[in-house]
Amino acid sequence: MQPDRSARSAPSVTIRPVRPTDAALLDRWRLEPSVREHQPLSDASAAQLLADLHRQRSDDLYASRGEKFQWVVSCNLQPAGWITLVIINWSHGLAEIGYALTTEYQRRGVMAPALRILVSDLFSRTAVRRIEARCAVTNLASRRVLERVGFEREGLLRGYFLLRGEPVDNYLYAVLRDDW
Ligand SMILES: CC(C)(COP(=O)(O)OP(=O)(O)OC[C@H]1O[C@@H](n2cnc3c(N)ncnc32)[C@H](O)[C@@H]1OP(=O)(O)O)[C@@H](O)C(=O)NCCC(=O)NCCS
Repeated sequence: MQPDRSARSAPSVTIRPVRPTDAALLDRWRLEPSVREHQPLSDASAAQLLADLHRQRSDDLYASRGEKFQWVVSCNLQPAGWITLVIINWSHGLAEIGYALTTEYQRRGVMAPALRILVSDLFSRTAVRRIEARCAVTNLASRRVLERVGFEREGLLRGYFLLRGEPVDNYLYAVLRDDW
């Protein structure tokens, strides 16, 4: 059953950098069918996820170093999903964002406020200048979230990735520090 959004008070949404102890949570969330419905996620093992989390240093982001950063999104103090930021190029301040909520927390208006917190922090405290996001054209919820946060749709990426063996068209979205 879909949650009645009108009957709910606005969720209290926060984000925090991932910790190695989040590996089991990420491993579980990544296997959920709804999380995989519109995006191909690599079949990383729990051990690989753990090693990946151990490599991340959130301080690096503010010193223009490092390639990958992740945050856990919490809703009313409960872990609800995660956001990944991959730096494409520090010299140009280019980065790409990805995100997902565990099934239970989808359709409750959680991801837009989480992205707003992160984008605001990135543009005010780091050298990131342009944040891209890609999503399947059929992923209406993700498109709505990006548009509500202030990302602009810049183009269509035909047959961009393979999902269950089928090529999927994606939209390219981006937000620039100057837009914010
Ligand atoms: C996509 C996702 C991040 C959206 O976040 P969310 O917090 O659940 O989104 P919201 O509840 O704010 O819904 C966003 C909008 O999409 C609409 N929506 C939600 N699910 C929808 C669906 N299945 N079909 C059509 N519209 C939908 C909502 O009504 C809302 O519309 P509004 O902005 O007009 O109010 C989340 O659902 C999710 O993690 N999905 C699985 C993983 C995923 O697809 N990640 C993104 C990969 S690009």
